[in-house]
Amino acid sequence: MSSVNAIRSTFLNFFRDAGHEIVPSSSLVPRNDPTLMFTNAGMVQFKNVFTGVEKRPYNRATTSQKCVRAGGKHNDLDNVGYTARHHTFFEMLGNFSFGDYFKADAIELAWTLITKQFDLPKDRLLVTVYHDDDEAFDLWRKIAGFPESKIIRIPTSDNFWAMGDTGPCGPCSEIFFDQGDKLWGGPPGSADEDGDRFLEFWNLVFMQYEQVTPGDRSPLPRPSIDTGMGLERMAAILQGVPSNYGTDMMRRLIETVAQLTGVDPDGPQAASHRIIADHLRASSFLVADGVDPSNEGRGYVLRRIMRRAMRHAQLLGAREPLMWRLVPGLVREMGQAFPELVAAEERIAEILRLEETRFRVTLARGLSMLEDETRTLTPGATLSGDVAFRLYDTFGFPLDLTQEALRAREIKVDDAGFASAMARQKADARKAWSGSGEAATETVWFGLKEDVGATEFLGYGTETAEGVITALVRDGQPVEALSAGENGFALLNQTPFYAESGGQLGDTGTITGPGLRVRVTDTRKKLGDLFVHAVTVEDGRLAKRAAVELAVDHARRGAIRANHSATHLLHEALRQVLGPHVAQKGSLVGPERLRFDFSHQKPMTDAELEAVENLANAVVLRNEPVVTRLMGIDEARASGARALFGEKYGDEVRVVSMGTVENEGGGAKPYSIELCGGTHASRTGNIGLVTLVGESAVSAGVRRLEAKTGDAARQHLNAESRRLQQAAALLKAPADTVPERLATLVEERRRLERDLGEARKRLAMGGGGTDTPAARDVAGVGFFARAVTGVEMKDLKGLADEAKGSLGSGIVAIVGVGADGKAGVVVSVTKDLVGRFNAVDFVRVGSEALGGKGGGGRPDMAQAGGPNGAAAEAALEAIGKALEQAATATAA
Ligand code: ALA
Repeated sequence: MSSVNAIRSTFLNFFRDAGHEIVPSSSLVPRNDPTLMFTNAGMVQFKNVFTGVEKRPYNRATTSQKCVRAGGKHNDLDNVGYTARHHTFFEMLGNFSFGDYFKADAIELAWTLITKQFDLPKDRLLVTVYHDDDEAFDLWRKIAGFPESKIIRIPTSDNFWAMGDTGPCGPCSEIFFDQGDKLWGGPPGSADEDGDRFLEFWNLVFMQYEQVTPGDRSPLPRPSIDTGMGLERMAAILQGVPSNYGTDMMRRLIETVAQLTGVDPDGPQAASHRIIADHLRASSFLVADGVDPSNEGRGYVLRRIMRRAMRHAQLLGAREPLMWRLVPGLVREMGQAFPELVAAEERIAEILRLEETRFRVTLARGLSMLEDETRTLTPGATLSGDVAFRLYDTFGFPLDLTQEALRAREIKVDDAGFASAMARQKADARKAWSGSGEAATETVWFGLKEDVGATEFLGYGTETAEGVITALVRDGQPVEALSAGENGFALLNQTPFYAESGGQLGDTGTITGPGLRVRVTDTRKKLGDLFVHAVTVEDGRLAKRAAVELAVDHARRGAIRANHSATHLLHEALRQVLGPHVAQKGSLVGPERLRFDFSHQKPMTDAELEAVENLANAVVLRNEPVVTRLMGIDEARASGARALFGEKYGDEVRVVSMGTVENEGGGAKPYSIELCGGTHASRTGNIGLVTLVGESAVSAGVRRLEAKTGDAARQHLNAESRRLQQAAALLKAPADTVPERLATLVEERRRLERDLGEARKRLAMGGGGTDTPAARDVAGVGFFARAVTGVEMKDLKGLADEAKGSLGSGIVAIVGVGADGKAGVVVSVTKDLVGRFNAVDFVRVGSEALGGKGGGGRPDMAQAGGPNGAAAEAALEAIGKALEQAATATAA
């Protein structure tokens, strides 16, 4: 008996020997086809090769492609478990010719494989062809030697294969296996064709056309071949079992479920076993390809698949989360063919365990509410949409889970009512929003969100992707298109562009297509999960529904990643150096620099700054991986992940950790672990270097650290070093003596300034060469009068004091004239004469002569000013006169 793994190898090796390249399966999340939710056929990764847009180094290929059919166009979810053939996840074996061989060789190869390698008896086989495809009809007659009765012409779309509304397509020929008359059913095209007896297992598509738009079909550059064989079906045929679930691999998965639950795999609950086995495969492969459970888009389909399986685990009486315990068995079965499963094993188990742990809590409560609501309903009745919506809203029951729970009791659910309850909730949210002032101008996003739904963010895993334009906005209004030269906003179904949040700036980049070039200047988030791209159309016309190429500015994002990771390292380093009171108060992560605000009372010292920088760079140099995991918020908190106080987090959070340090009790723990939705370097070494460029105060108790990393850090340090070289050249000294030399220079300058001040004073007071005596006798009183220039006003008093000292007894009057032509006057009276003369009186006289008014001070020292410095001598003259009068008057 051939195992599933052996059948896969036989198929691939057969085509390799016939000149085909064995190409690995592509991801379940199509990167090159935004119209598809999940990869659902082998040809998806070759779509652009068929149409001639993409070239590969081979023109024949063979694959075993992972496929998911759940959600979107091909949705098999509801049937899975209750039929022999339906799966959410399956493998499609295929051989492809890109303009190389065509119908004759395709039929010949297929016939050889199934009759010579798989040894299927010819009399159990029959085929269909598209009704007007005489060529295929004749080839089957010639190659297989079939009589006409075994080559059935089918006129319907069953025999014209298309991947969707657009894309490569062509007539096809299907190969059937007759499982014998113990099963009910008729050959294809007959009234009983839906029966199980005749089993289709291989579809050969003669790719000839491209459906460019729904109304426009054009020929491919060259006729090509695309085939798809269901691996699970082939295995069921070769192993002689009536159901895909009876094949070796599925059976082993089911037996593990039976062991863990103690429930007979072939008893009345067989469907639950099948559902768990199937959904385990879909969930695990989706997680391995980067899908996380969520409430939107692909993530929601994954969540529905997981929860449907978890509900059946509960039906089997599992008391603990079950799904995650099945992961090692699955990895044993499929890990060799799909290494991505091995790489993601831990993550898959973790996500399954988390989802099931959380879901079990609400499942029990939700089921009991469902029980209450349906107690009075009898078979054939319908549960109201409102109740189904409440189950969804409160307990996270997807609609299909409610339907499934009521299936056995033959109770239906009003799904139109469910949809309108959902719509009502959205409308209420919209009303609440449009009432709130400034936000009212933003209501355009509400309508758009209802129309187009949340944007799927692909940017954790890729910086390029295709997307479909779902809406365009110009001047606050939705529009059909933006023309060259226009600015506006674009929404897409999916995007690799990060929208500004958590301090990390939004991405910039390009949107391109045939004849189209658009610059994305910023990306912002609206209403939580709508990614709004600010765009400028440079060339062509950006229209709604266009499929476009999206490319994030790689260098800029790389710098942002490094800065974001460095922010985490600095946060931890600050706590280690300054203490646990350090809490994040804000941050800004851009391509040029990062800014981190934190609580701390005083400026950091140089030693602290150096210690922080050293700690962060030590982790950079160890080049350790940066690991991102998805966790429940409680689990994340328990793991010690740092969260922002007061921030609202969802139930599920991303936890970013980097670096390792030894744990006190042995073992290792991450150096830094934080809740974070941003994008990060993949290893700390990618940060390159962290250099602090600023430390300042933001507000009371909050400090701000600024830093640069990578190339920006290198350029910053180079510029500093160049400036040092320039300084050294000016000083004519080696660079390492610059600080010392500067200190000496500063000290020298201070001394020189002091000496200069002294010299000026001496000059002003008549030293330094002038021989005009400044002091004379006025009516028996000593009078020192002098006009000076080149002395600062603040120094006039000092001069007056000095003059007083040398005068012994008398009155000193000094007028200083500034460079601006204004003057200041100081009058001072020696102690022995205070009482007889008042300095304030004299200074007023002087001030008046200088064109000023008033003046003030004490009787022994007064000061005033005036605009007219040219009258300096006149002012001194006036003061002399006043003194003469006063002296005469008081002489008696
Ligand atoms: N692309 C073809 C299919 O999916 C082979 O059936």
